[in-house]
Amino acid sequence: MTESTTRLLIIGPPGAGKGTQAAQIAERFEIPAISTGDIFRANIKGGTPLGQQVQAIIERGELVPDTLTNEIVADRLAQPDAAGGFLLDGYPRNVEQVHALDGMIEGDALDAVVLLEVDTDAVVARLLKRAELEGRADDTEEVIRHRQDVYAEQTAPLVELFAERGILVSVDGLGTVDEVAERIAAGLTAQLAAKAGR
Ligand code: AP5
Repeated sequence: MTESTTRLLIIGPPGAGKGTQAAQIAERFEIPAISTGDIFRANIKGGTPLGQQVQAIIERGELVPDTLTNEIVADRLAQPDAAGGFLLDGYPRNVEQVHALDGMIEGDALDAVVLLEVDTDAVVARLLKRAELEGRADDTEEVIRHRQDVYAEQTAPLVELFAERGILVSVDGLGTVDEVAERIAAGLTAQLAAKAGR
């Protein structure tokens, strides 16, 4: 049984590479990566009641209501594999969700938050390319732009909040996947060591 209780979050605009890097971080720190977007998409694909409830919202690029999202995350974090730590991807996404997460966990909800910094033109180009390859329903140019606006309005303000908590690790998200992964690993290692020494 692992003694690690590393609780991490990766945030950044749509297309910043959160999902790509989450897989690498989860492997390195031996914790599960928990993506609310992936949970919703799996439910849409499976045609579950939850999937039917959220499909149109996601296709418009809006946020799923907080009560529903918070409930899903609370259920997921209660599963045994998350007891030793986790990496959240795509949650929390607004101030209400931060407060909900704080209430789900005893002590500090998060040890470190990785912010992937990539400019808007680069992320839009990445997502338009993914639309060609994978056809994700929310990867049309109009919805991609709307998702960027929703991020700017609702999620970007969280960066300051996490900085005030002393847990923010800002990383340049441009470059190869491996280059970005190395920057994240270095930033997280330093942040976690500093927190352990406090
Ligand atoms: P979510 O799934 O979280 O999507 P997102 O934030 O829009 O982010 P993406 O998955 O598009 O991008 P990413 O940053 O993960 O980048 P990726 O690694 O895929 O949310 C989807 C929707 O679900 C939301 O709009 C909302 O409706 C709902 N939702 C989710 N969470 C919610 C919440 N908490 N509350 C309410 N609603 C919620 O990479 C993107 C592309 O770039 C890929 O093709 C990848 O191969 C490529 N790429 C990655 N890294 C690089 C690199 N270094 N160089 C070049 N290309 C790269």
